[in-house]
Amino acid sequence: MITTTELTKNYGDLIAVDKLNLHVEPGELFVFLGPNGAGKTTTIKMLTGLLHPTSGKAAVAGMDIVENPLGVKRIMGYLPENPFLYDKLTGREFLEFVADVHGVDKKRDKIGRFMELFELINSRDEMIEGYSLGMRKKIAIGAALIHDPKVVFLDEPTGGLDPKSARIMKDLLQSIRSRGTTVFMTTHILEVAEKMCDRVGIINNGSLIAVGTVSELRGEDIETSSLEDIFLNLTGGTQQEQISLFLDNVTDDS
Ligand SMILES: Nc1ncnc2c1ncn2[C@@H]1O[C@H](COP(=O)(O)OP(=O)(O)O)[C@@H](O)[C@H]1O
Ligand SMILES: [Mg+2]
Repeated sequence: MITTTELTKNYGDLIAVDKLNLHVEPGELFVFLGPNGAGKTTTIKMLTGLLHPTSGKAAVAGMDIVENPLGVKRIMGYLPENPFLYDKLTGREFLEFVADVHGVDKKRDKIGRFMELFELINSRDEMIEGYSLGMRKKIAIGAALIHDPKVVFLDEPTGGLDPKSARIMKDLLQSIRSRGTTVFMTTHILEVAEKMCDRVGIINNGSLIAVGTVSELRGEDIETSSLEDIFLNLTGGTQQEQISLFLDNVTDDS
């Protein structure tokens, strides 16, 4: 469903994504995991047509992202890291607008049920400018999913949500996956990856450093029992020494 071949993005001298080779099967829930600044958002922006790759290629559902960006947009949903919403619309109006763009059937029912699910129903007729960050996030999630996309790209989907809403989000994504939708999501939260994914790809400094199921990544190493250990081993370990240095400095100066 998603294939990247040596996909690369440079910002000036910085190589944000470096020759990425990935393959995500149809119906798979793939988690792209990495620390801040690893290149996750840059990858998702290329796959959704927001950023032009510097070199390399990628295809979504057999369509080249550069040659057929509209074809890709027609079948996908996208939750950006920092979604843009129209402040002067109500939550319901915004979702109706998005539903109209995609020609969604029975949009009113669908939007009502979505707002019920995420407990937005009492705020549906208030302007988005009055919404909290979490409420905005939920509206953006609705905008990404309202048209039943074949493939959905989500950049940090649980970020900014309270625990209950984050749980609803995780369950919703797993249900979408079990109905055959391909899910490609990023997170820097290990627990989210470990609980949800079919496979995980770990990216660090623009390079894919590991890919597989959590148990494959664990391998033979019984000591390395959690994804956190695998992740920290691959991305440079813990920072206990720096913590001590920082705290000691603070003490010295006082
Ligand atoms: N528009 C930009 N201009 C210059 N550098 C950028 C830009 N966007 C991202 N970067 C840099 O590219 C790297 C990858 O960023 P990003 O893809 O946002 O990482 P992640 O989503 O994994 O946190 C970082 O070093 C970041 O500072
Ligand atoms: Mg990001």
